[in-house]
Amino acid sequence: MKLGIIGGGAMGSGIAQVAAMAGWEVRIFDTQETARNKALKSISDSINILVSKEKMSASEGVATLGRIYMCEKLETLNDVDLVIEAIIEDLEIKKSVFKSLESIVSDHCIIATNTSSLSVTSLASALQKPERFAGIHFFNPPVLMKLVEVIPAVQTDSEIIYQVKNIMESWGKTVVTAKDTPGFIVNKVARPFYSEAIRILEEGIADIATIDDAMTSHGFKMGPFTLMDFIGHDVNYRVTESVWKAFFYDGRYRPSFTQLRLLEAGYLGKKTGKGFYDYQSDSKQMLTENAALSDQIFLRIISMLINEAADTVYQQICNPEDADLAVKLGVNYPKGLFEWGKEIGYSKIVKTLDDLNQEYGEERYRVSRYLRNLAKN
Ligand code: NAI
Repeated sequence: MKLGIIGGGAMGSGIAQVAAMAGWEVRIFDTQETARNKALKSISDSINILVSKEKMSASEGVATLGRIYMCEKLETLNDVDLVIEAIIEDLEIKKSVFKSLESIVSDHCIIATNTSSLSVTSLASALQKPERFAGIHFFNPPVLMKLVEVIPAVQTDSEIIYQVKNIMESWGKTVVTAKDTPGFIVNKVARPFYSEAIRILEEGIADIATIDDAMTSHGFKMGPFTLMDFIGHDVNYRVTESVWKAFFYDGRYRPSFTQLRLLEAGYLGKKTGKGFYDYQSDSKQMLTENAALSDQIFLRIISMLINEAADTVYQQICNPEDADLAVKLGVNYPKGLFEWGKEIGYSKIVKTLDDLNQEYGEERYRVSRYLRNLAKN
C-alpha cells in the first residue's frame, strides 16, 4: 500500500516513519528543500536509534528507510491509496492544497488531515468528493505516541472511517473516534489541567512548584507548569485560545493573561531556557510542604478534568471508554478520568465543583449534567 504525506515537518516525517515501519511505501511532498532534507535526516536518525536499542534489526532499518521517497512535486502522489496532510495550520492554504490534490489522485484515494484545531468538515468541503475525507490526528512524536483520533467530517462515508481505523490499527496505533468539535478529545479534555493550575497560581493559593508537586504526588508524570514549559507557551497558549474561540468564547476555556505575558516576553518554556521555571539558573524552587493544601489543589484540578471529560461524553463527542483511552495514551495520564472519578466518588467531584461555583459564581465551574447523573447513580 502507498501513502502520500504532504508537509514533511515534525508530524509529517513522524507519520511517514510509522507507515514505513508497517511496510507501506511512503512519498513525502514538501515545498521546501530544507524541510525535505531535514525530514529524511530526522527519520534516519530515529531509525538508527531504534536499531541501536535493538527495537528493530539493521536490515529492517535499511528496508524501512528504503520505502520512503522525498518528492518535489505534488503530482508524484498520483497513485497513492491514502494521503495525510500535515502542513501549516491554515484553513485556506490547506483547502487549496486539497483542491489541487484531488485532481491528481484516483477516486479511491482516501484524503486525510492531521489538523489539531481546524474543522475537518470545513476542510472536506474543499473536495468534489468530500465523503472520502477524514481527520486522522496523531500525537507528537508520532512514532512513540500510540494514540490516533479519527474524526469523520459531517460529509464522510462511514465505510471510509472503517477503512481508516483498520489502517491505523495495522500501523500499531490505538484508535479513538471523535466528533468534529474543537480540540477533538485530548486537546479539549486536557484544558483544565493547565487552566485551573494557572487559576490557582493567579489567586495566590500556591506557587508553581507546590501546584506541580500536588499533581505529581497524586500520580501525574509531570505537573502542569513543567508540562506547559515542555510543550512551549506558543503552542499551549494557542491551543487554549483556539478551543476557547471555537467554542464561541465559552468561559470554561478562557486563556490566561499570565500565560499570554510569558508568550509575549518570549519566555516560551524549556526551549528558550525560561518559562514558568528558569532553566538557566540552578536555584531550586521551594515548595510548600502541606498535605492538606496538596489534596485541595489536586481535587480542584482533577474535578475540573473529570467534569470536562463528562461534558465531552454528554456532547456525544466520544464515549467514556475512548475518553479514558485518549488521556492515557494522548497525554500520558496515569488513569482515565472516568476511572479516577469512580475511585474518588462522583458525588465528591460534584460537591467540589458546586462549592467552587457557589464561591465564584462563574460558568467555568458549572457541573455537566452527565456528571450529575453519574453522581446520582
Ligand atoms: P511543521 O511546521 O513542523 O511542518 C510543516 C511542514 O509543511 C513544513 O516542512 C513546511 O515546509 C511544509 N509546508 C507548508 N506549506 C506547504 C504546502 N503548501 N505544501 C507542502 N508542504 C508545505 O508543522 P507540524 O508541527 O508538523 O504540524 C503540521 C500539522 O500537524 C498542523 O496542521 C498541526 O496543527 C498538526 N499537528 C501538530 C502537532 C504538533 O505537536 N506539532 C500535533 C498534532 C497535529
